[in-house]
Amino acid sequence: MTEMLRLPAEKSYAAELVALAVGDSARRPAGWALSPRRVVTYLMGGTAEDGTIITPKYVGNQRLIETAVATLATDRALLLLGVPGTAKSWVSEHLAAAITGDSTLVVQCTAGTDENQIRYGWNYAQLLAHGPSREALVPTPLMRAMESGKLCRLEELTRMGSDVQDTLITVLSEKMMPIPELNGAVYAARGFNVIATANNRDKGVNELSSALKRRFNVVVLPLPDSADEEVAIIVKRVGEMAQGLELPAPKNVADEVARVVSIFRELRSGATEDGKIALKSPSGGLSTAEAIAVMVGGISQATFFNDGALTPDMLAANMIGAVVKDPVQDKAVLGEYLETVLKKRRGFEGYYASLTEML
Ligand SMILES: Nc1ncnc2c1ncn2[C@@H]1O[C@H](COP(=O)(O)OP(=O)(O)O)[C@@H](O)[C@H]1O
Ligand SMILES: [Mg+2]
Repeated sequence: MTEMLRLPAEKSYAAELVALAVGDSARRPAGWALSPRRVVTYLMGGTAEDGTIITPKYVGNQRLIETAVATLATDRALLLLGVPGTAKSWVSEHLAAAITGDSTLVVQCTAGTDENQIRYGWNYAQLLAHGPSREALVPTPLMRAMESGKLCRLEELTRMGSDVQDTLITVLSEKMMPIPELNGAVYAARGFNVIATANNRDKGVNELSSALKRRFNVVVLPLPDSADEEVAIIVKRVGEMAQGLELPAPKNVADEVARVVSIFRELRSGATEDGKIALKSPSGGLSTAEAIAVMVGGISQATFFNDGALTPDMLAANMIGAVVKDPVQDKAVLGEYLETVLKKRRGFEGYYASLTEML
């Protein structure tokens, strides 16, 4: 069999999910594969009854995850909100995997998403040959989730037009989807709910209507509080991703992550760590996810072009790519940071040299 590049969470973490189900006698909502407490353990990490280690998926405040899980047990849908790279999609996938064993019912919302991708479409050959019938109808992930009592994930909800978003109102409030062409409707099976994600930097693009907002409980996923927490998240994810890509992890990964994170955090917050120098921030978000991508790219480059040595010049090009989203403004911001801060900082000589050279 061909090896898959990436498996859905319920497949990659199947052993953990099986272990968590053993002896799970606590009360659980209809249609759930695990009790809410076990779902939280799956996300936050811990030990299953049989001793299986459950790896932490989300690093952060457990209460946020409890709120998210509790919401999904009610008739309200869940909206994960946050700046890019705060693990919204990641948490949404793992919640769906743990709760219904299926994280694959996903709609990626874009400005081009239309009603047919949310409600249902038609197989036109069938439709022309036999007229409207259940066989001619092409169900969307949302419709399949309703029929099977599973969770539907709507990624980047606010990117699609408001009129299309509003097609969700009936689904969320009545738990049914009318199909006027067939003079019928699909009724949601117990267990059905929706997890949406939205980026609060996109705000204003297509703000949720207040009617729709009322159907969601919003959980805001924050950027990591401290540099240490952010470093821990990145080191963990980079380790997992390098392993998945069969790249050997260089010994100094954690040290370089700490340096990259300190640079990113200073630029993001607009001040040096000691608070002494005010800085301009670049236009991009410089998220945790971007730092992860910089590190994985650097490890790949180090493996194939530098005998596995993870040096600043292996990271510099990707760091510039992450910082400089606007070629004029951000370039100046980074240049100023290099000259006023990094030039004099001990332990960052390599970064100063490579970044200056490539900028
Ligand atoms: N608090 C966190 N805990 C665990 N992983 C995190 C955290 N923050 C970011 N990540 C990692 O960042 C990466 C990108 O997250 P993603 O879910 O795509 O972000 P978003 O959808 O919010 O833009 C994922 O690999 C995820 O593991
Ligand atoms: Mg996302």
